[in-house]
Amino acid sequence: MKKYTVKSVYDEITATVTHIVFDQNTLDAVVIDPVLDYDPASSKIFFDSVHKIETFIKKENLSVHLCLETHAHADHLSGAQELKKRFPQIKIAIGSKITEVQMTFKKVFNLPDFFVPNGSQFDLLLDENSFIHAGSIEIKVISTPGHTPACISYWIGDALFTGDALFMPDTGTGRCDFPSGSAQSLYESIVNKLYKLPDSLRVFVGHDYKGNGTREAKWETTLEQEKLYNIQLKAYTTKEDYVRLRQTRDSTLAAPRLLLPSIQINIDGGRLPAPEENGVSYIKLPIKSR
Ligand SMILES: [Fe+2]
Repeated sequence: MKKYTVKSVYDEITATVTHIVFDQNTLDAVVIDPVLDYDPASSKIFFDSVHKIETFIKKENLSVHLCLETHAHADHLSGAQELKKRFPQIKIAIGSKITEVQMTFKKVFNLPDFFVPNGSQFDLLLDENSFIHAGSIEIKVISTPGHTPACISYWIGDALFTGDALFMPDTGTGRCDFPSGSAQSLYESIVNKLYKLPDSLRVFVGHDYKGNGTREAKWETTLEQEKLYNIQLKAYTTKEDYVRLRQTRDSTLAAPRLLLPSIQINIDGGRLPAPEENGVSYIKLPIKSR
């Protein structure tokens, strides 16, 4: 298996890990899950996270071909469009089932007719088991639904990027309580797909919560470690046990802090809403009663 270099950038505010994967020989590169910083209280965006990625890319003289989204995130705004402004050749890719997520949230946000839930907001829609290329880098697309129906894991050489499917072994797996999320599906995705891949694969996760504040942030492990020690889903865990544990845990979790702003922007390829006639963009927040 070809070994690529991975530079990971940790966002302290949203606990998101952005990965830059590159070929040391050709300098071809991809960026996985970039973050656009957003402060909901002041409704201000800022570019610290994108700037870190941009600086690294320029310092290493990388040729970035793709921005790979593992899914439509519910806890941070995607930095894909800002990255594309800085590197216009980048194509933004996401799983083809994003259309299901778009249909769901078009209704939730009562989006206008011109928002068509057909995935056209992204440059590339990726299908299960397909291969895509970024210069000398070959990427296998593995559909890993459960956290959302459109989640993708990316297998690149000796590394596997699991997004919010698998976290570090002491943390477990992604939550499955978003619309069309499914603990049963996530079990199938992890046990029947990811755990069938070579044990030696390096696993890079999409978030890390520092073991609930008990350790430093970590984002790299191996598939062998996950299968042996994942606190929620080991190779021998039964589906029944996992689903019970996942659903019990999910029933205790609050909605992510940036859920409503994130989703409406991220299903539109990471674009901010079009400015109104006064030049200002507005985020829409539905009001529900308890
Ligand atoms: Fe997520």
